[in-house]
Amino acid sequence: SQFPVILPAAGIGKRMQSDIPKQYLVILGKTIIEHTITSLLSHPNVSYVVIVLSSNDTIFQTLPLASNPRVKTTLGGKERADSVLAGLQYLSAQEKWVLVHDAARPCLKHDDLSNLLALTKSGETGGILASPVRDTMKRGDSNGTIAHTESRDNLWHALTPQLFPLQQLKSALIEAQQKHVPITDEASAIEFVNQNVLLVEGSASNIKVTKPEDLMLAEFYLSQQAN
Ligand code: CTP
Ligand code: MG
Repeated sequence: SQFPVILPAAGIGKRMQSDIPKQYLVILGKTIIEHTITSLLSHPNVSYVVIVLSSNDTIFQTLPLASNPRVKTTLGGKERADSVLAGLQYLSAQEKWVLVHDAARPCLKHDDLSNLLALTKSGETGGILASPVRDTMKRGDSNGTIAHTESRDNLWHALTPQLFPLQQLKSALIEAQQKHVPITDEASAIEFVNQNVLLVEGSASNIKVTKPEDLMLAEFYLSQQAN
């Protein structure tokens, strides 16, 4: 079966400090968002991608992919969660499951996406790609000194894609929004409504391009891939 993907791409990329939003920076001859969309559309279990754009966006429509019939667009909002909700509202209520993936994660591997999608065969519980933390984790205090060392046991980096039943995710995001709970990924909304989220181990190479030094890393990972 096939699943739609919501691709939030309405951010400004403040931490990247570039003139244009980071998803439009070019790596190996293509914009970051084109790498991301191409990789998603070439996976056999992806039906189409809904790109959530800023109302100020002037670049997306100039890309060749903008006219692909499997690429749809809608307008996002102030925070990432607002953009994701706008994307979900664009979908037909017939869809049972939905994937959400950051435009700024161009290095997703097909095998990781396949492992995540395997969850849809076993039940109703959604899940996320995640990778175990590697460094020793310190909790700091307000003076900038170490309060204590956090155990690394069961501590993960949350990645995307994240996969949930459409109606479950939509109502969780709406409830979190109404109660002004800060939501930085889809799983946080599901946690807020006390529902289970499975962790599916994915590759640490699935980085979110966030700061300037991430561009070279993404270029390296993309050059290694034969998706
Ligand atoms: N995003 C979005 N709508 C927002 C904010 C972010 O669709 N209001 C998207 C970004 O375009 C990105 C993804 O969410 O693809 C992950 O967010 P992040 O890495 O934080 O991107 P930016 O918000 O653009 O970057 P920064 O936080 O540095 O400004
Ligand atoms: Mg942001």
